[in-house]
Amino acid sequence: MDIVTIHNLKKTFGKGENAVKALDGIDLAIEKGKFTAIIGASGSGKTTLLNMMGGLDVPDEGEVIVDGIKLSGLKEKELAVFRRGKVGFVYQSFHLISTLTVKENILFPLSLAGMTPDSSFFEEIIHLLHLEQRLNAYPHELSGGGQQRVAIARALISKPSILLADEPTGNLDSKSGQNVLGLLKLSVETYHQTLVMITHNLEIAQMADRVVRMEDGRIFG
Ligand SMILES: Nc1ncnc2c1ncn2[C@@H]1O[C@H](COP(=O)(O)OP(=O)(O)O)[C@@H](O)[C@H]1O
Ligand SMILES: [Mg+2]
Repeated sequence: MDIVTIHNLKKTFGKGENAVKALDGIDLAIEKGKFTAIIGASGSGKTTLLNMMGGLDVPDEGEVIVDGIKLSGLKEKELAVFRRGKVGFVYQSFHLISTLTVKENILFPLSLAGMTPDSSFFEEIIHLLHLEQRLNAYPHELSGGGQQRVAIARALISKPSILLADEPTGNLDSKSGQNVLGLLKLSVETYHQTLVMITHNLEIAQMADRVVRMEDGRIFG
């Protein structure tokens, strides 16, 4: 079953001579419960494509359907609800809130949404990501790998339909990058979590169920 379907997606940034076709007619289906890696040179449109799946950006043309929801039909407020309920984001630069503890950071999106955390699921996730000893620490007290594990826990806690990761190991040394990635893959397998990850690292891409290659706003293979 496909959790994401994309039809003829187009996006141009800028106008006239400065126009850049970031997405030039993308057709793509993402299978539920699978790990899909997106690779391609810098500027090939990977982040733009991921942002479209997460309802963070709006295409000029084409259609994105995530978990049965057609994003082009949604107003900004509805998109915000969609993002909160259906999407987990993991970025290269963690995006943790420095004045909140690890535990507060993980629960922050749920509390924003007025949802009560499932405490047994919380326990499972922090155990899986080796965070149980760090719950009262602040982000700056953790290593980069530790901070990214917090960001992953925060993304997983709402059981999103789709987890979107944009070069999540890009700011980590290779050892902690491998560690974080192994844990991310374990979480995905444990919860049959759909993951779409942009990466420059071909070794990482080889761990994926499927590799999608982008070039100049198009998909090859
Ligand atoms: N907000 C924006 N404004 C102008 N140009 C943009 C914007 N976002 C992306 N682009 C351009 O679109 C192209 C694709 O960008 P991006 O999706 O970030 O590629 P990638 O993630 O593969 O490096 C690039 O040429 C980039 O400069
Ligand atoms: Mg990018």
